Amino acid sequence: MSTEPKLRLEHVTKQFDIRGTDEVFTAVEDINIDVAPGEFLVLVGPSGCGKSTLLDLLGGLSSPTSGRILLDGKQITGPGLDRGIVFQQYALLPWRTARHNIEFGLEAKGVKKSERRELAEHYLELVGLQGFADRYPHELSGGMKQRVAIARSLAFDPEVLLMDEPFAALDAQTRESLQDELLRIWKATGKTILFITHGIDEAIYLGQRVAVLTSRPGRVKTIVDIDIDRSGDDVRSGEEFRVFRHRIWTLLHGEVERARAGELDPAQEVAHV
Ligand SMILES: Nc1ncnc2c1ncn2[C@@H]1O[C@H](COP(=O)(O)OP(=O)(O)O)[C@@H](O)[C@H]1O
Ligand SMILES: [Mg+2]
Repeated sequence: MSTEPKLRLEHVTKQFDIRGTDEVFTAVEDINIDVAPGEFLVLVGPSGCGKSTLLDLLGGLSSPTSGRILLDGKQITGPGLDRGIVFQQYALLPWRTARHNIEFGLEAKGVKKSERRELAEHYLELVGLQGFADRYPHELSGGMKQRVAIARSLAFDPEVLLMDEPFAALDAQTRESLQDELLRIWKATGKTILFITHGIDEAIYLGQRVAVLTSRPGRVKTIVDIDIDRSGDDVRSGEEFRVFRHRIWTLLHGEVERARAGELDPAQEVAHV
């Protein structure tokens, strides 16, 4: 078995030019993370700390200002079917049914029609949506739409699943049931998952490891190993969970305060540029 990481972020920094000035804004700075094959890694950080910026970099939708990102040892230089992305907003095509949304990536991959249909059926079942194949997105609830988005990402069999706050827009109950579904799917498929959230409970519930990011610019503050038994009832109320929640809350709390101070004080903003 290879010990090579599935994903490696090496000194990744991303800066944006501030329009109308010759200054730059550093969104994320010197990010170093290795994600092992089959690992479920969560990145948690305050709003505006550069989480989506990082996801865009991983997706190859933009490139780092410095540093590099490797997938199976090869540098990511653009988007690719080796990475499936699930966004916060249901990025489904409204004019396509659930089935045809799932088949979308497969068409791009040149999979033939009968096989596409079979795969779509399989992944609809995996996300618990058998029977909903012919519904259009507007005929599905928010939770169902995210299930379709997950099925679509899995259907073309990517190496890595990248998820940017995919459950943030859902009500608490739907969110918790989708978290369980995602853990089940992760175990069933063995995919490597990099999941981004600003929710502490979500991070602890899902992650084998949780990387806590600082606010502006986003850096990795600490990576916490989450070693809890998730098999019991109401895991989130247990003592182990509570200890992790407090630990990560403490790590994040200062960051949220710092982010808020930065928003109020333009001078501080400049200090981070
Ligand atoms: N294309 C861009 N140009 C300039 N600034 C950007 C751009 N994209 C993001 N930013 C800035 O980078 C910071 C991080 O944004 P983002 O990655 O969306 O944060 P998060 O997802 O953690 O809430 C924000 O201050 C945002 O305004
Ligand atoms: Mg974001």
